[in-house]
Amino acid sequence: MTAFWSGYITLLTLGSLVALLWLIFATRSGEASGPADKTLGHAFDGIEEYDNPLPKWWFLLFVGTIAFAGAYLLLYPGLGNFKGILPGYENGWTQVNQWQREMDKAEALYGPIYAKYAAMPIEAVAQDEAALKMGGRLFASNCSVCHGSDAKGAYGFPNLTDHEWRWGGEASTIAQSINNGRTGVMPPHGPLIGDDGVRNVAAFVLTQLASRKLPEGETADIEAGRKVFETTCFACHGKDGHGMPMMGAPNLTNPAAFIYGSSFAQLQQTIRYGRSGSMPAQNEFLGADKVHLLAAYVYSLSQDKEKK
Ligand code: HEC
Ligand code: HEC
Repeated sequence: MTAFWSGYITLLTLGSLVALLWLIFATRSGEASGPADKTLGHAFDGIEEYDNPLPKWWFLLFVGTIAFAGAYLLLYPGLGNFKGILPGYENGWTQVNQWQREMDKAEALYGPIYAKYAAMPIEAVAQDEAALKMGGRLFASNCSVCHGSDAKGAYGFPNLTDHEWRWGGEASTIAQSINNGRTGVMPPHGPLIGDDGVRNVAAFVLTQLASRKLPEGETADIEAGRKVFETTCFACHGKDGHGMPMMGAPNLTNPAAFIYGSSFAQLQQTIRYGRSGSMPAQNEFLGADKVHLLAAYVYSLSQDKEKK
């Protein structure tokens, strides 16, 4: 703002306040004392108006608002280029400055704690009660929308508390999953192997790998399905169907961990149309220190079970 406009605004604002102050004192006609009898001398339909002074509390309320305005303009930016003298805001108070100040405060408070854990290996952090509490809170606010508040997953979202990992359960692999995100790509096979192929290989996965039964009344050529598996699916899911963490191809022998369902119909759907689950990368959003704590928390979820 140029000096001219700054001065213009300052004068206008302060001028108005002074004028208002003058107005309420100038028009004040003393304290109310005794029964009021003076009228203003006009009458509407026989109704007259008394000339009573403002009640004191009412008058003070006016004075108070002007005093508030004065104090506000002294502390906060409001008068042209004047930045206000609020302690801690040398550059003037703004929402951004206040946010930054609170972030700095939190950084001073929690920075050393994060730094302490960041220097420890994830496996060690996973033994630390206080760290796991922090990790649990971070999980609740950042991850539970997809993985559930108990981390047990949901349709389309993997369970993080079992021993089944699509991308690997090493502490460092988990950290990598969280940091960089993951996208699993199961290509659609309908066009490649045809309806019969889909049906047969789904039946093969269901009965031979997942050890379940075909639904009553359904039939399929399981041996033909095996051939499809051994020529098409093994490249990603492995020869015996145990999966391949490099590509995020899941183990097909543990139907309890299937995220897209393990019914005959759902398997056919997955194989015919493909699937592509996406875990969003968190490093830019959360920062390395928080991801470190989260990785420890997620790692601990399946470790606890082993102990019990
Ligand atoms: C190019 C590698 C690739 C090939 C080939 C492939 N898959 Fe997959 N498959 C994947 C990946 C990766 C996923 C995980 C997708 C996801 O997470 O969204 C997956 C997921 C699945 C699932 C779902 C598991 C769950 O958690 O619900 C089934 C079932 C499956 N594949 C069966 C097959 C069958 C049968 C074939 C052969 C016809 C096959 N896949 C071929 C990579 C592949
Ligand atoms: C928008 C939904 C979403 C959010 C939010 C999300 N995830 Fe995921 N996450 C997924 C999906 C989907 C997958 C499976 C990706 C695939 O298909 O391979 C996954 C996979 C993972 C894996 C790998 C699991 C395995 O079996 O290898 C880990 C670890 C993980 N998430 C942790 C987290 C953590 C920790 C957070 C919170 C910071 C989080 N996720 C937030 C959707 C999400």
